[in-house]
Order: sequence, then C-alpha cells, then structure tokens
Amino acid sequence: MKINNQHYHTIWLKSNNESTIQIIDQRSLPHDFIIEDITTVDQMAIAIKDMHLRGAPLIGVAAAFGMYLAALEANSGTFQIDMDRFAEQLKATRPTAVNLAWAVNQQLELIQNKSFTDPKIFLQKAKTIKQDSIDRCKRMGEFGLSLIQDIYNKKQSTINILTHCNAGWLACIDYGTATAPIYAAYDSGIPVHVWVDETRPRNQGARLTAFELQEHGVPHTVITDNAGGHLMQHGEVDLVIVGTDRTTRTGDVCNKIGTYLKALAAQDNNVPFYVGAPTSSIDFSLSDGLREIPIELRNESEVKYIQGKHENTIKEVLLTPEKSPAANYAFDVTPARLVTGLITEFGIIPANESSIKSLILQT
Ligand code: MRU
Repeated sequence: MKINNQHYHTIWLKSNNESTIQIIDQRSLPHDFIIEDITTVDQMAIAIKDMHLRGAPLIGVAAAFGMYLAALEANSGTFQIDMDRFAEQLKATRPTAVNLAWAVNQQLELIQNKSFTDPKIFLQKAKTIKQDSIDRCKRMGEFGLSLIQDIYNKKQSTINILTHCNAGWLACIDYGTATAPIYAAYDSGIPVHVWVDETRPRNQGARLTAFELQEHGVPHTVITDNAGGHLMQHGEVDLVIVGTDRTTRTGDVCNKIGTYLKALAAQDNNVPFYVGAPTSSIDFSLSDGLREIPIELRNESEVKYIQGKHENTIKEVLLTPEKSPAANYAFDVTPARLVTGLITEFGIIPANESSIKSLILQT
C-alpha cells in the first residue's frame, strides 16, 4: 500500500542489515509516520504486546520474524531450549489471535522435525509466511469484489460499507482482510463509501482505517461506535465487513470488542454481515467460540485515557474520574448464526462447520 505515493509493507528486513527487522510504529499514526528498528526478541515481544504493531495476520508474521531474531540470539549449545523459551515469550504477548501461536509453531517445527539451527532457515520461513499472508489477502479481495459488484449491479449507486476496528493493510502486510474487497471495488471503479467505526478504546478505526482509506483515496466517514445501528435502521449501510482474530471450525468469529453488537444490529436490519477470514484465522481445535476463545483483557489505562494531537504535540488526557476503575475487554465473539458469510482466500462460504470442512478438503 502507498503512503505519500511510496509503497510500504508493515514489516520488512532492513536493507543491508540482516539482523534488524523494521516495522511501521502504528502508535504514532495517523499523525506521524515512524519506522522502528527491532533487533532482539525482547523488543519484538514488547512491540507486539504494547501494540506498536497489531492485527491478527501482522502479529503472526511479526512473531515469525521474532523467531528469526531468536535463532540469532540462541546459544548453539542450548539451541532447542533457548528457542522454546523465546517461543513461549512471544506466544504470551497476545492471547486471542490464533495467527501468533500458529506462526511460532511453524518455526519450532523446523527444529523439531528437521533439527535446523541456521538462522537463515528461520528468516526464509518468516519471509514465506509474510508472502503467504499477502497472497491470501489479495485473493480475498478478488472474491469480495464479486460480492460488492453484485450489490452494485442491483443498487446502481454508491455502496455503503461499515467496518469495525482496523482489518486493513496495517493489520496485515498488504491489502488487509476486511478492506481487501473495498480496495478492489474502489480500484475497479465501483463507487464505495466506508463508515469507519472509531473503535474505542484504542481507536484503530478512527486512527488507522481512516488513515489507510484516505491514503488510498477511498471515500469514508468516521462514526462513533454506537452510530452503526442507527445508520442501518435508516438504510445507510449496504454491507458490513469486519476482520477476525480467531474463527472456530463451526464459524464463530472473534474480533475487536463491539463487533458482536454490529452483527446483532445487522441481523435486525437485514444488512449482510461478512467476515474477511483467511483460513489461517481458523482454529480447528475449537467448536464453541463463546466458551473456548481466550479474550484478552488489556490495561484499564487504555479506557481511562485518550490520545490525540494538540498544537503539533501528541498528548494523552484523562477521561474518567481518576479513581474510577475501568475494564478493557479487547475482543468479543460473534456467533456463526449472525454471520452471512466468510470471505476466505478460496471463496466465500457460509459460516458453518460443513462448509468450512469442505473448503479445507477442497484445498
Ligand atoms: O487489538 P488489535 O488492534 O490487534 O485488533 C485487531 C482486530 O480486531 C482486527 O479486526 C483483526 O485482527 C482482524 S485483522 C485483519
């Protein structure tokens, strides 16, 4: 994706320096564009936990690069023990998105199955996982485009799409999951407009999705998290597309807190509710999202304080009475019955166990 007309991914190996990973520090967006150097596993773990980078596909790729840094740091005499320790450290950073543990396990398999210890092998694997993520998002965009095209063929005027949080290219490597169909539709000339939920408490919608859409030129409007239901009641939303951090084999979808309320409002108003769900987000070990998916509980300070720009300086201000406690649930689960369809890299399918199973068997 382009920022100021220059093409960027969200993470890459620094040129002429094979031991440094570079990332876009998303904490500074949309006001400042800062690139951060990461050279140790500790730094990568902090970057994931404190959300210098975030979004399920991206934290998976970041953890894969983290395991490359781990291979550079590990002692040759205790390689397996050190790598297991680094793997646990990375996995503990964020519990909900399934991509993180999946990517770390892919790297561990190189040691368990093939006894590899050369860091270059782990670098190559991280690069493969990264490219794979890009390809998946691109293909999801192509399938999602046909969905938007169908709606446009009937409506023949601007398609209003509501999205929650940031499931855009900043949450991935390129294209995004929920946004891939939107970019594809916009690029093919379909008039689209995006309602961007601000997504309290960290405001990934207001800060990141709005930034991305603006850089790409896609018309959009930032709304408060509670506005979506009202817009749906008044026919102002043709389609909802959100991302997922973990999808059960039965089609339950865990995504940013507030997604469930949008799905309820969508069902009440007959608005199609789609999820950009790469198959890498499917956790085949789980069948009941509500009971089985671990929901990350983050620091209460993210609810109590809000950050913004004032006279050219980024400031953080207190919103609540200083002593009021706050609770910060980061994700919720939307049951499969509220999901119209999953936009995967192999096609759009109903959110149920048999469709998910046959999709995987076909591929
Ligand atoms: O807490 P975050 O910002 O990592 O949460 C991100 C989301 O909930 C996204 O919607 C999800 O990861 C899908 S990303 C393509």
